Amino acid sequence: MQVQGHISAPGDKSITHRLLLLAGLARGRSRIRGALTSLDARSSAGVLRRLGVTVTPIRPGREVLVLGSGRLRRPREILHCGNSGTTARLLLGALAGHDFRATLTGDKSLRGRPMRRVTEPLTMMGARFDGRGPMPPDRLPFAIRGGALHPLTWELPVSSAQVKGCLLLAGTVGGVGVSLREPAGRSRDHTERLLRAFGYRIVEEPDGWMRFAPTGAIEPFDIEVPGDISSAAFLVGAAILATEGSLRVTGVGLNPTRTGFLRVLERMGARISVVPTGECSGEPVGEIGIRPGPLGGVTVTAGEISGLIDEIPLLAILGARALGQTRFEEAGELRVKESDRLKLLADNLAAVGARASIEGNSLVVRGGHSPPVGRVRTEGDHRIAMAFAVLGLVEGARVEVDDPECAEVSFPGFAKALRKVTGR
Ligand code: S3P
Repeated sequence: MQVQGHISAPGDKSITHRLLLLAGLARGRSRIRGALTSLDARSSAGVLRRLGVTVTPIRPGREVLVLGSGRLRRPREILHCGNSGTTARLLLGALAGHDFRATLTGDKSLRGRPMRRVTEPLTMMGARFDGRGPMPPDRLPFAIRGGALHPLTWELPVSSAQVKGCLLLAGTVGGVGVSLREPAGRSRDHTERLLRAFGYRIVEEPDGWMRFAPTGAIEPFDIEVPGDISSAAFLVGAAILATEGSLRVTGVGLNPTRTGFLRVLERMGARISVVPTGECSGEPVGEIGIRPGPLGGVTVTAGEISGLIDEIPLLAILGARALGQTRFEEAGELRVKESDRLKLLADNLAAVGARASIEGNSLVVRGGHSPPVGRVRTEGDHRIAMAFAVLGLVEGARVEVDDPECAEVSFPGFAKALRKVTGR
C-alpha cells in the first residue's frame, strides 16, 4: 500500500461537545466553525435543543449557530445522549446547577457505562438523582434534579476529562468553587482552557490540586474548532503501515494532553515530524508528517494512559506489526469505554491471527509479520472499527470489520478519507 498527499482531520470531538454546551449556556448567538459533524456531535446538539437551545443543523461544511437564553429550560422529553459518554457526563454537570428535573438515557453501550463517578460528586454538591438501584445511580437512564450548589473538594478515583469537565461545569453554572485532583496522569484540559478564556480562575498547584473559582461569565462567542488528533491518529497509523510514500495531516490540534501517542510512536521508531503552525480556539495546532517504516515494541506506562486513552486501539494494532512486544500498563479504563476495549482488542487481534493477551488490567501485544486475516467484532465501537480498518490495509491482509459504519460516531467519511490517502 502506498500513501500520499495531505488531508485534514474532522473537527475535534471533545472541543465540539464543550463548545456546543457552553454556547447553549450563553445568552445570545454563538458561531462554531469547523465543528465535528459526527453522530456524537449530533447527540449533544439534540439534547441542547430539548433544553430550549436553538442549534442549527449539524452538517458537513456548515458552521453551527447556537442561540442560548443564558439558562437551560426544563425539558419535556427524555434527553437521549446516543453513544456519547461526553454528552451525558458534561450535561449532568450543567444540569446540576439548574432547578428542574431532567431524565437522561443513551444507547445500549452508554447505558452500560459507569456514571457514579459523576453522580457521587454532584450529589455532594447538592444535586439529587432518581433511578433504579442504589443511589446515587451508576447507570443510565436516571433523572437529575439540580438547584443551588455547594462548593466541592474532590479526588477523582480515575483520571477523566469527562468527570473533570462535568464538575467544572457544575461549578460554572452553580457559581461555586471546585477543587479537584486526578490520581495519575493528567487528562485532556480543553474545559480548563475554554473556561479560562471566559474569565474563570483555574489554578494548578504543584501537589496536583486544581482550584476553580467562579470568577467569569459565559458570553456568546465565534470560534473555530481544530482538527481532532484522535481521528488523525488513524490516518497517521495508515501512513506508518504503508510500504512507500508520505502523508501530511494538516490543521490538527496539538494540545500536549492529547499528543501522548505521538511520543509513543517516536519511541517505537516511527518516522514522524510535527510542525506547529499556530493556535485555534486557544489550542496549539499544526501539521503531522509521516513516512512509512518499521516499528519496535515498547511499554506504555500507567502514567501515560490518560494522555493517549483514545489512541490505544490504534497503538495496539500497530503493536501487532512491530518487532517485539508492546505493553499497555494499567489500561483498565478501556473496559468502560464505548465497548470493553481491553477485551475486544485482545479478542479481535487473536481473530485476525495476531497475538495479544490481558494480564490483570494490562494489554500485551506481540508483534508479527504474517498478514492479518479474519473477522473483527466491533460491538458498535467506532475506534475498534477504525483501528482494524487500518490494520486491514497491510499487504496481503483480509480483515473484515462487522460494522464499519460505526466509525461515523466520531469520524464522518472515515472510509473515504482512508481511500483518499491510500488509493484503496
Ligand atoms: C473525553 C474524555 C475521555 C475520552 C473521550 C472524550 C472528553 O474519556 O476517552 O473520548 O471529551 O472529555 P474519559 O474522561 O472517560 O477518560
